[in-house]
Amino acid sequence: MRLGVFDSGVGGLTVVRHLRRLLPTWSIVYFGDTARVPYGAKSDATVRRFAGEAVRFLSQFEVGRVVVACNTVSAVALRHLDREFPGVPIDGAIQPRAEAAVSATRSGRIGVIGTRATVASGAYEQAIAAHAKRAGARVRVWAAPCPILVPLAEEGMENSKAAREALKHYLEPFKARRIDTLILGCTHYPPFKRAIRALLGARVRLIDSGEATARKLARDARGERGGARGSLRCYVSDIPRQFEAVGARFLGRHVGRVRLVAQDDLPWFERMPARGGR
Ligand code: DGL
Repeated sequence: MRLGVFDSGVGGLTVVRHLRRLLPTWSIVYFGDTARVPYGAKSDATVRRFAGEAVRFLSQFEVGRVVVACNTVSAVALRHLDREFPGVPIDGAIQPRAEAAVSATRSGRIGVIGTRATVASGAYEQAIAAHAKRAGARVRVWAAPCPILVPLAEEGMENSKAAREALKHYLEPFKARRIDTLILGCTHYPPFKRAIRALLGARVRLIDSGEATARKLARDARGERGGARGSLRCYVSDIPRQFEAVGARFLGRHVGRVRLVAQDDLPWFERMPARGGR
């Protein structure tokens, strides 16, 4: 099986890390839209356009399935992608985490952190409510955007004083709500796990942004195992070296050679007016 995975940037490697562990024979083509990250501060319409372009780019590798690692895209664009690409099964980030959170919570008090766009969409609240209803569980959900965490993670500052201050600021209200489960609703948040645990205490269950997706795929793929180890090939829309340097921290090992997407491979380039405009 060849899987397409995409994210607004490097954070989706936190999902790839779990996919490689749980589905080692699958090959992965990864696209990180490093030229246009962050998505979390952009409008829904813009994120939908970028997401469509990413899936079109990955489709040329004849991927059997696409994993949207990015929570922001999953929150605002998944339905549009399903409509635009009816032939490609597309897995989003929200559903598996919502299900994992409902299963994990004992008190029914769940927190969600994510980008502004993810939180504004209400996608986690809806998915959790739907799953809780099916499971016959009573839950309450509180969500908060944590925009500063993305650049801190990219700078490798997840255990810095600045990160601790930012987390304190963002997580204090969750302490007051006495949540027992927190969804890390952004690809960039897993590196903060240790700092978040130190603040909220080990009692609060953290739902990792990548693991739930990988587990779901691994469950669906029963019977497809065996064979040689699959490859990982990464493409970015800007500065491959930066992605190589930062990527290892998210993937847990070196990402290998990262390729720049040739400008004329990117669908948005085709639509640009010729020089001088027309
Ligand atoms: N990949 C995004 C997400 O998971 C975070 C970074 C961004 O804002 O683009 O929501």
